[in-house]
Amino acid sequence: MKSDLTPIISEAARVYACNEVDAGGYYYHMPNAGHYPSLFAWDSGYHAVTMLHIDPEKASRELETLFAQVSLDGHMPHEVLLPCAATRARPWKNLMRWAVQWGYDSNGASHLVDPPIFVYAAERVFEQTGDRGWLARIWEDLCRCLDYLLDERDVFGDGLVAILHPWESGTDLSPQLLPALGIDPARRLDVLQSVFYAALLYRFNTGLGWDPAALAEANRFVVEDLTMNCITIRALDSAARLAPHAGDELAASRYRSRAALMAETMERVCWDEEAGCYFPRWDASKPRLARVKTAASLLPLFTGRCRPERAGRLIAEHLLNPDEFWTEHLLPFNPHDEVSGARPWVEKKLWAGHCIWVNFNWMIAIGLREHGYAEEARELARRTEAMVEREGFWEYYDSRTGQGRRIRDFTWPGLSLDMTDM
Ligand code: GLC
Repeated sequence: MKSDLTPIISEAARVYACNEVDAGGYYYHMPNAGHYPSLFAWDSGYHAVTMLHIDPEKASRELETLFAQVSLDGHMPHEVLLPCAATRARPWKNLMRWAVQWGYDSNGASHLVDPPIFVYAAERVFEQTGDRGWLARIWEDLCRCLDYLLDERDVFGDGLVAILHPWESGTDLSPQLLPALGIDPARRLDVLQSVFYAALLYRFNTGLGWDPAALAEANRFVVEDLTMNCITIRALDSAARLAPHAGDELAASRYRSRAALMAETMERVCWDEEAGCYFPRWDASKPRLARVKTAASLLPLFTGRCRPERAGRLIAEHLLNPDEFWTEHLLPFNPHDEVSGARPWVEKKLWAGHCIWVNFNWMIAIGLREHGYAEEARELARRTEAMVEREGFWEYYDSRTGQGRRIRDFTWPGLSLDMTDM
């Protein structure tokens, strides 16, 4: 650890302590005890990576709690309403939880899935601890939740994973998902629709039992999302590397070949030669690209399998372009050219306006470093740390000013600890 980072480490330790749950056999962190008093799947992946820099034992325990949530059919829920003191201390929070529970199963688990960054986190934990007993305890559930994505969510039959609700991308109302939602940001009525759409779609999907085949047939929202697929490709390679340590050689070759197939399909169907970047594909009956650029368009850099000449174009034409992503405050999720001129209402929606999310900074910095752009990776890391140190730990930051936004003492900025050695 570098000594000049001590303020961020101690702030991370404080924020994580405020959001820690260690009760009833569960150990995990809430992303924020006030706003999100539950276990969230991809958040726990970020927590484990952060905790490797504070207390690796706690990183292992958080992932063990998480993988224990995988259901028999392999569904890893986006959120689980585990009992915790944060809601007992504030009874009105229980009411809010009760209100959302209508959409959850009898275990308090959401029907949604999350991008499986927690599998990459498991590889990082194992690299550091070498604890085979721990790996043996999580291995079956880890494979089961990957297999669910590979077998049940290959809705287009091309190897990629389809999401059936925008929240399954982890990037709730990302402008890249608006075409598939049938929302035109310029129309007033559609703005209103966007507020209710997620809840209505959740209800509609529950009515069809979250059955991927039935939902593909209904074709309300079926998207080969970049965040989901890039993280899944990375997760498959992590699982393939872990497999021999779990004594499961068969899984190693299955996951490696599926990662290769997914990466090939992504190159074939999501790459836009003219734009020089990747876009998600949507519509199960007439598949087409949603040509809206966000930081997810750059995420193939994180897969470890992006074609070098395309990675070069992504970096030179978009990531390092001061008119798009390489602006004063790094890294806008929505690039300058897409968000300038956007309607003011988008600012109120998560992931839609001028926002910097530290998880994307972290994944893209890893991608830059792995593609040989060490200096640029360091610069992204340096500016992220400076922002987090100056502002504190916020849910996201304003990409015009670098100021913290919405929820304070939010856990994800802890990922900046993992960027220090870049
Ligand atoms: C927001 C984010 C989602 C995250 C959740 C809990 O809904 O968009 O990605 O998992 O909050 O932090």
